[in-house]
Amino acid sequence: MRLLVTGGAGFIGSNFIRYMLSKYDYQLINLDKLTYAGNLENLDEIKDDPRYTFIHGDIADEKCVQEIFTQDIDVVVNFAAESLVDRSIEDSGVFIRTNVEGTRVLLEAARRYGVERFIQISTDEVYGSLETEGYFTEESPLDPGSPYSASKTAADLLAMAYFKTYNLPVIITRCSNNYGPYQFPEKLIPLMITNAIEDKPLPVYGDGLNVRDWLHVRDHCVALDLVMRQGRPGQVYNIGGNNERKNINIVRRILKELGKPESLITFVKDRPGHDLRYAIDATKLKKELNWLPTYAFEKGLQETVNWYCNNQKWWQKIKSGEYRKYYEQMYAHR
Ligand code: NAD
Ligand code: TYD
Repeated sequence: MRLLVTGGAGFIGSNFIRYMLSKYDYQLINLDKLTYAGNLENLDEIKDDPRYTFIHGDIADEKCVQEIFTQDIDVVVNFAAESLVDRSIEDSGVFIRTNVEGTRVLLEAARRYGVERFIQISTDEVYGSLETEGYFTEESPLDPGSPYSASKTAADLLAMAYFKTYNLPVIITRCSNNYGPYQFPEKLIPLMITNAIEDKPLPVYGDGLNVRDWLHVRDHCVALDLVMRQGRPGQVYNIGGNNERKNINIVRRILKELGKPESLITFVKDRPGHDLRYAIDATKLKKELNWLPTYAFEKGLQETVNWYCNNQKWWQKIKSGEYRKYYEQMYAHR
């Protein structure tokens, strides 16, 4: 089995690669552009594994992608994306290029060369925002609220069109917010942990009452493995762990874990169009594929706080920008 994982140098992709190589004897190609969010240090443990190959390239680059598909790819798992809502509000162009055009290029190559499965990693954000009641099911209307989620929705529709038109065996997964080791410290949980360790202010948007449904990245990887092997083509699977938390409560919990004062909390201007609440109904995945999340949120968060305490070099290099210098030298010839 030869797997093409895109965006494998990012947070979820790198966790997925480590997970798959620990479990199976697959050949695995990681295609990653190494944007600001891509960090090969996330894969230090497996970088010399003979089953693993890294290719520095862009999913929207047709020539690069087609060359890879000549190597008999069996399964594509497309994680590559621009992934931060706030950045999409500042500059949506790269979100359309990578998340939509990049997905199209991959779908087109997969159609031409043939694959057994094409897993499109989507997000619960395509469903938009919930009020205080209710859950997103796979049948909920698509109603994205940010340029990021709109670009992911467009990619989902395109992927499903390739299933309908060309019978490409596409499966879409829509997961809730992930947390865990190697998450780039611009997202809520790692930003708050690392700022708190450094006694810097913790910027909470608006009143801090927005709700997200949190899933440990390892539970996400287990779900993706199941979907990849047993999921039905043409289907969407929601992935979520029923762990709804208000942002402010997460921030308080992190401060408590670290023994830091709540005076570090700073309420800042709200994100424009800030989705109020996400909550996933993952019944389909649980019933069809027997998936169950294993992490209790409080335990997972505690472990994650410990991970950031024990891996300060990893995130300090990111926060200082030092990790970019290494790649700029390494790939300067391209
Ligand atoms: P991330 O930002 O940590 O990583 C994205 C990776 O994609 C990086 O390694 C980056 O270098 C790479 N990349 C970006 N543009 C590329 C391009 N044009 N070509 C090749 N590589 C490119 O993101 P993440 O949090 O790991 O998210 C991975 C996927 O999961 C995304 O598709 C995201 O929409 C989805 N998702 C994320 C979450 C979450 O909570 N993080 C939740 C649900 C779904
Ligand atoms: P984020 O991690 O960006 O994920 P998403 O917006 O895709 O769900 O943000 C999670 C929540 O935390 C969201 O409601 C916005 C909020 N937030 C803050 O309050 N402060 C911050 O500095 C960040 C990055 C996010």
